[in-house]
Amino acid sequence: MICFETHISNVTLEFFKKNQKALLDFTESNSIIKEVCGINNFFTTQEQATELLEKIKERTSFVSEPDRREYGDFQTNQVLAQKVTEYIFSKAKDIEFVLEPTCGKGNFLLTSIKQWKTLKKIVGVEIYQPYIWETKFKILEYFLLTKCNLKPEIDIIHANTFEFSYKNLAKSTQDLKTLIIGNPPWVTNSELGSIDSDNLPKKSNFKKHSGFEAITGKGNFDLGEYISLLMLKFFNKHNGIFAFLIKNSVVKNLIQEQRRNMFRIGQSERLNIDSKKEFNVSVNACLFITELNKEPEFVCTEYDFYTQEQLTTFGWYKNKFVYSIQDYNKSSIIDGKSKFVWRSGIKHDSSKVMELEQVNGHYRNALGEEITLENDLIYGLLKSSDLKKDRTNSFRKLTIITQKKIGEETLYIKKKFPLTYKYLSSHKKFFDKRKSSIYKNKPDYSIFGVGDYSFAPYKVAISGLYKSTHFTLVVPTDAKPIMLDDTCYFIGFQEMKMAEIAHYLVNSDIVQKFLKSIIFSDSKRPINKDVLMRIDFEKAFKYADFEKAKKKIKDLEIKHWKTFEEMVKENIIKQMTLF
Ligand SMILES: C[S@@+](CC[C@H](N)C(=O)[O-])C[C@H]1O[C@@H](n2cnc3c(N)ncnc32)[C@H](O)[C@@H]1O
Repeated sequence: MICFETHISNVTLEFFKKNQKALLDFTESNSIIKEVCGINNFFTTQEQATELLEKIKERTSFVSEPDRREYGDFQTNQVLAQKVTEYIFSKAKDIEFVLEPTCGKGNFLLTSIKQWKTLKKIVGVEIYQPYIWETKFKILEYFLLTKCNLKPEIDIIHANTFEFSYKNLAKSTQDLKTLIIGNPPWVTNSELGSIDSDNLPKKSNFKKHSGFEAITGKGNFDLGEYISLLMLKFFNKHNGIFAFLIKNSVVKNLIQEQRRNMFRIGQSERLNIDSKKEFNVSVNACLFITELNKEPEFVCTEYDFYTQEQLTTFGWYKNKFVYSIQDYNKSSIIDGKSKFVWRSGIKHDSSKVMELEQVNGHYRNALGEEITLENDLIYGLLKSSDLKKDRTNSFRKLTIITQKKIGEETLYIKKKFPLTYKYLSSHKKFFDKRKSSIYKNKPDYSIFGVGDYSFAPYKVAISGLYKSTHFTLVVPTDAKPIMLDDTCYFIGFQEMKMAEIAHYLVNSDIVQKFLKSIIFSDSKRPINKDVLMRIDFEKAFKYADFEKAKKKIKDLEIKHWKTFEEMVKENIIKQMTLF
């Protein structure tokens, strides 16, 4: 039967039928229910008890599924909830108090009740009333079917977790061995903004972000992260365990900010789950477990949840936040400042007009138009997906490089390259509608990410979109350098041998180990300028061996090796004149 938009099992229905009369007085029903299963205030008003009574008499039922996006609603299935609680049980046997701050349909609460015979108190908080009922009925059914003398005191509270007084709850439970369990909402504040929801904490200075940071994107936070911080703030001095299913990125943030927060959390584990299988969503998520009321620790060990295979230990090490402490330990020598400035490629935000293909001696744009242009401003263009090979001299696409440096006047094109100018001006509307403020008050047809460096003939490049840390050597087939787009990073060289040595070094074992040790591959842009600028070429060079390099680089001579060494050597004289 469906009542309060939730399913009531036959066992529970029979129980209520038997106690129909008690439903006329909800306080009387509440004390019978408390006797059976420990739940406090099963009904909070007489209307609720009367509604159930009428439903029993009518036996009618229907349920509607509302849009629950703003509540980040991904209920944990029973099998996963069972596995998670069993895992926690293997770590802590004598839990007395279980709290779930967004308990949903109550699967975690039920599996906890089944696991711990030591439980004294259970609290579940949930904003959605039908789930409150489902949780209550589920627990009632369990106790109706299970002979159990010891019943914990249970409160399933219909409330907004952001407004609930955890301070008081923490005070009244401080002596109980605690398990904070759950699966908080999978939604970020910006997603909530886009659907006009106010399911947000009231305090605007969450994580001390200022308005500026909010604009630049750093203010985008996950509700799961907020609720985790809330729990750790109030309960980190309780003895026990904190165990949440959350996004991997949230765990990374928690450990990264642990230096500032100094929560009393000890050994932490991140157990990766298959969220496609468990929740049918493509998000990197995990079970995060940490011990409460321990000397603060700053690292977390990562495992596969299903096989328990250990993958890495990440966190703070030698004052750096790294993904693999083990690999970093072996490669930290490389961690420094790059002698070469890593750049991102050309940005034009007008691919329909600016991305061309070569067909039968002329060009075709992405609008399908076939055009004839002077070749002078046309350059080969590589995108992230073109950087899979170790070395390349070919390209699928071409682009028009309208400027040699940012902000340069573009009127010269009219005089020198009339066909190109005609093409650009006949497609001016595509350039004019570019939204980014970088094009405001700039000459017509302006591009970005352009400078002397763009015209270096030999480039060592990497994609910023993928997880791979392999670098590609880009060499031109004729005198014209090949360009990269703004999803790629590169360093440029005038001489082929210098580029080949740099390429050899960045792909060497030690540099690769270093990069893998600092990159969190499930972040949005794992490889970025900050990461690349940490490659100390002088150290990488010292670590390398000429004879080995010779086997990889054709016609490499000692004079090339020496020239590169000079190029990356610490400039002692310059430093001395500075001080
Ligand atoms: C990802 S689901 C998980 C539910 C449950 N913990 C589980 O593991 O199945 C998140 C739950 O948080 C609830 N929720 C969202 N915002 C809330 C709020 N402000 N206060 C309390 N609960 C909230 C949703 O209704 C939903 O049941």
